[in-house]
Amino acid sequence: MPFPNHELSMTVLMTPDMANFSGKVHGGHILKLLDQVAYACASRYAGMYVVTLSVDRVQFLQPIRVGELVTFLASINHTGTTSLEVGIKVVSEDFHKGVATHTNSCFFTMVAMNEEGKPSPVPQYVPETPLQKKRHAAAVLRKKLRRQFDDEYAKAIQTTAF
Ligand SMILES: CC(C)(COP(=O)(O)OP(=O)(O)OC[C@H]1O[C@@H](n2cnc3c(N)ncnc32)[C@H](O)[C@@H]1OP(=O)(O)O)[C@@H](O)C(=O)NCCC(=O)NCCS
Repeated sequence: MPFPNHELSMTVLMTPDMANFSGKVHGGHILKLLDQVAYACASRYAGMYVVTLSVDRVQFLQPIRVGELVTFLASINHTGTTSLEVGIKVVSEDFHKGVATHTNSCFFTMVAMNEEGKPSPVPQYVPETPLQKKRHAAAVLRKKLRRQFDDEYAKAIQTTAF
């Protein structure tokens, strides 16, 4: 394998057909690219078809302009039994001005599926470097907080009068 199979990057030139009504890049287009990158990273790592279960922390903090080069840096942060968390850092580069901006980091949870369309175990990811260990620990924390949020929300929604 020419690249580490837990990481993947993709660079895309933002062209005029990707623009919204204000001339900046349409958020939905970035979402589609993010989903493609998450799919490619998780599916290559698992060696199986994967589906998107959830997406966390997509925030468009800075606009991306037509003409910029956008790079999606994806890595497997954590594996459960059948699920994987893919972290994606988005960097937008105005290469005329020589300015690169970190526009967003977000987290996709993907589930590997077998040929019968059932969730299927993935190879366990073991972080090795200090950065991988830090990302792994952060992913464990996010997983715990997601569960906590779901539990508390389910309780609160039952007792809230609308
Ligand atoms: C993803 C999907 C297969 C999970 O189905 P399921 O019946 O819940 O399957 P399981 O109970 O075996 O769970 C599979 C994994 O998803 C995780 N999961 C399922 N529901 C979850 C939830 N609400 N929150 C967090 N994790 C969840 C489980 O923890 C498990 O991960 P693990 O094996 O690493 O512990 C199912 O929800 C699905 O098909 N969703 C649609 C996916 C799709 O079409 N995506 C594209 C959107 S257009």
